[in-house]
Amino acid sequence: MRVGIIGVTGYTGNELLRLLLAHPEVKVTYVTSHSFAGQSLDQVHPHFRGITDLKLSSFSLDEAAEKADLFFSALPHGQSMDIVSQLYTAGLKVVDLSADFRLTEENLYREWYGREHTASHLLEKAVYGLPELYRKEIKEAVLVANPGCYPTSVILGLAPLAARKLLEPGTLVVDSKSGTSGAGKVPNQGLHFPECAENFRAYKVARHQHTPEMEQELGKLFGQEFNFTFVPHLVPMIRGILSTMYLKIKDNLSYEEIVNLYREFYDGEKFVRLLPPSMFPETRNVYGSNYCDVALQWDQRTGRLIVLSAIDNLVKGAAGQAIQNMNLMLGLPEEAGLEAVPLRP
Ligand SMILES: NC(=O)c1ccc[n+]([C@@H]2O[C@H](COP(=O)([O-])OP(=O)(O)OC[C@H]3O[C@@H](n4cnc5c(N)ncnc54)[C@H](OP(=O)(O)O)[C@@H]3O)[C@@H](O)[C@H]2O)c1
Repeated sequence: MRVGIIGVTGYTGNELLRLLLAHPEVKVTYVTSHSFAGQSLDQVHPHFRGITDLKLSSFSLDEAAEKADLFFSALPHGQSMDIVSQLYTAGLKVVDLSADFRLTEENLYREWYGREHTASHLLEKAVYGLPELYRKEIKEAVLVANPGCYPTSVILGLAPLAARKLLEPGTLVVDSKSGTSGAGKVPNQGLHFPECAENFRAYKVARHQHTPEMEQELGKLFGQEFNFTFVPHLVPMIRGILSTMYLKIKDNLSYEEIVNLYREFYDGEKFVRLLPPSMFPETRNVYGSNYCDVALQWDQRTGRLIVLSAIDNLVKGAAGQAIQNMNLMLGLPEEAGLEAVPLRP
């Protein structure tokens, strides 16, 4: 199988290529760049020297269709929709890593992303690419909207409770911390080293654009709409997301019953690892891997359940999950190319 990466020079595009070069069943045959078209990949990213002789193209539908069968779009939101729409219309399979096709409601896209959607006719065609929830639909999909990084950690943390309607929505508060690669490679003042290093801050408090995506998916599982408070933070590290979720549950379930519920829900799910009692997720335990580690802690004094989850934002939060989706779309083993052990110092 031949695959193409649109936007290979970005953080998630680079991570896609790194993982796909070790994939046993597919070959990367087409890669594009906006700023470096015409150059060889290893001129721009020397860590690929001697490993691949790919050349960077400027996107053209004709060349894309001739060179590959399935595409990853790793472009910024707003830039992705036009190219994805061209590929889809030409009958080609696409996994879009941007946010352009994740929200089913066009007005929510306008509200949270501050722009008009120019391919809104495809919103109903796109399948939300969280394999643990939509495996069957992804297998049949032509267009997969790969989930956001924060949503992956939060939805996987809460899905078992939402699906059983056990969480008390008004009580849910989600506090997530991300490394700086989550913002992509384009520099800005807030991501400048002296601003991030030895610093820890919240940003987009209660107004982050991933909020409606999480509410949409948790609401679908829960069977009714609900809102919750989401506060993201920037941590002075490069990769990783740790989400801490505080909530009250509806029924008087014991801690053991809740743990069993999670065990059943994630039974057979290779990439979701439920941690034993008193062990909590750490970003370095999933670093460079497609795992999502999840733990539960009961706060008996306040009656709150605390759910914690950790992912690598560039792998389970982006490129790894996109490859998991590609494997399903192509009928390949779901874990193909994703079996790397997390990297620990
Ligand atoms: N970073 C994460 O942790 C993460 C996680 C989940 C999802 N995502 C989503 O994945 C997408 C890519 O993220 P990223 O972090 O990899 O971004 P990035 O590092 O900024 O890379 C963006 C890529 O898009 C290309 N590009 C930029 N502007 C373009 C334009 N106007 N037309 C065509 N190509 C353009 C860039 O090309 P040049 O290098 O040639 O300029 C680069 O290859 C985004 O939509 C992001 O929201 C990111």
